[in-house]
Amino acid sequence: MTATPTSPAMPASSDPASAVQPPRGLHVITWGCQMNVYDSARMADVLRPLGYGPVERPEDADMVILNTCHIRERATEKVFSELGRLRKIRDERVGNGQDRTIIAVAGCVAQAEGEVILSRAPYVDLVLGPQTYHKLPEMVARAARAGGAVIETDFPVEQKFDFLPTEAAPQTQGNLTAFLTIQEGCDKFCSFCVVPYTRGAETSRPVASVLAEARRMAESGVREITLLGQNVNAYHGDNGNGGSATLAGLVEQLAQIPGLGRIRYMTSHPRDVDQSLIDAHRDNPALMPFLHLPVQSGSDRILKAMNRGHTADEYRESVRKLREARPDLALSSDFIVGHPGETEEDFEATMQLVRDIGFAMAYSFKYSPRPGTPAAGQPMQVPEDVKDRRLAELQALLCEQQDAFNADMVGTVQEILVTNRGRKPGQIAGRSPYLQPVHFDGPDHLIGSTVKVAITTRRTNSLGGTLIRETASAC
Ligand code: 5AD
Ligand code: SF4
Repeated sequence: MTATPTSPAMPASSDPASAVQPPRGLHVITWGCQMNVYDSARMADVLRPLGYGPVERPEDADMVILNTCHIRERATEKVFSELGRLRKIRDERVGNGQDRTIIAVAGCVAQAEGEVILSRAPYVDLVLGPQTYHKLPEMVARAARAGGAVIETDFPVEQKFDFLPTEAAPQTQGNLTAFLTIQEGCDKFCSFCVVPYTRGAETSRPVASVLAEARRMAESGVREITLLGQNVNAYHGDNGNGGSATLAGLVEQLAQIPGLGRIRYMTSHPRDVDQSLIDAHRDNPALMPFLHLPVQSGSDRILKAMNRGHTADEYRESVRKLREARPDLALSSDFIVGHPGETEEDFEATMQLVRDIGFAMAYSFKYSPRPGTPAAGQPMQVPEDVKDRRLAELQALLCEQQDAFNADMVGTVQEILVTNRGRKPGQIAGRSPYLQPVHFDGPDHLIGSTVKVAITTRRTNSLGGTLIRETASAC
């Protein structure tokens, strides 16, 4: 793994393991981005009417779904190794006289390599791409009837969201934070990226559909939502009046939903940071001052080779405007080192951009050629040892900046969404606007509300503080 998950980010929402054993056990293994986390929850939703409920171990599952990610190297090998493990578990179950586990592969590896999966692992029952999750029940029935593998990797004309269950989103029950997909796919075709091929063309969910899901989430207790999309700030969902809404317009409407006090969005593209979004950061206090805005490189030459559609200075200028609009805004980003053609000078430009901007956290990766993407076939691939050295240098700088950012929290007052009890008796815990876990003494009844906390200490992966006011707001 070449990523630096230097984030103090809180864990993603997890499937609540039900205390009562469901009629059919479902175990979902999720790899990759938050959109996969969201998709896994929605797959569980569509399977619930068939009697499937979450179980913690694949050994107890009648169906296991492997929700995969194809973004970086060795994705396919990782899938086959996991499938081998699942096959053994299934064989043991059958040997014990239990039902044969249905094995499904979903996500971007399924989309890109569905046929390869079926030929190399013919024991897999279902292969389905990210746009076909709503077809799962029908696929399960087809597999049972036909007794063979069923594959669905087309990009259907209908939007899957129109076919997913509309009742109160059960996956969010009991959660204070949730993901909500509002946009999918990408038309940007960055030289290195498989997403336009695996997730397809960009589509936005209509405003009414997003608002309805957000209302259901808020009614079930969610206080903070993260709007998801591969290119979330390119959002242009149907506004119901023959036009389309921008992300800023959507956020404005979401902020009016009672209980939804915090809104985040990811992942955005620098090219789609428009004035309305900058203004929203100034005018809308629900919009959290923590923005993931991947820049990938600080070299104009490499940005051009990557087909990013902006220069390093244009990125600096967008950040300047955002910070002017929201002075407490902090940034996170993604970086790739060793894109084909990257020279020492190009790499130094990336380091300079990092020094100029100052990031609260970042993910950084070594470039890995993805089959079928333009960069994979380019000459001037950067040697592995050079990538390693550049990655180490970049990560050292990014870690330093992250450390400094966390250290600077001490002595400030932060609004904390209280999400759970702390580990020690009398302690409660929550997340700051910057997704840092914060622990402090306080009563349990504050769970679910937002309180002000004076930050007093900093530990490796969290902050400690003192409750200074019991804020009555339910966010
Ligand atoms: N090699 C390395 N990193 C990649 N990413 C996407 N494709 C590749 C690749 N081929 C990184 C980018 C992106 C993040 C989700 O993954 O930085 O923003
Ligand atoms: Fe991939 Fe993001 Fe570029 Fe789209 S904008 S091609 S998702 S890196």
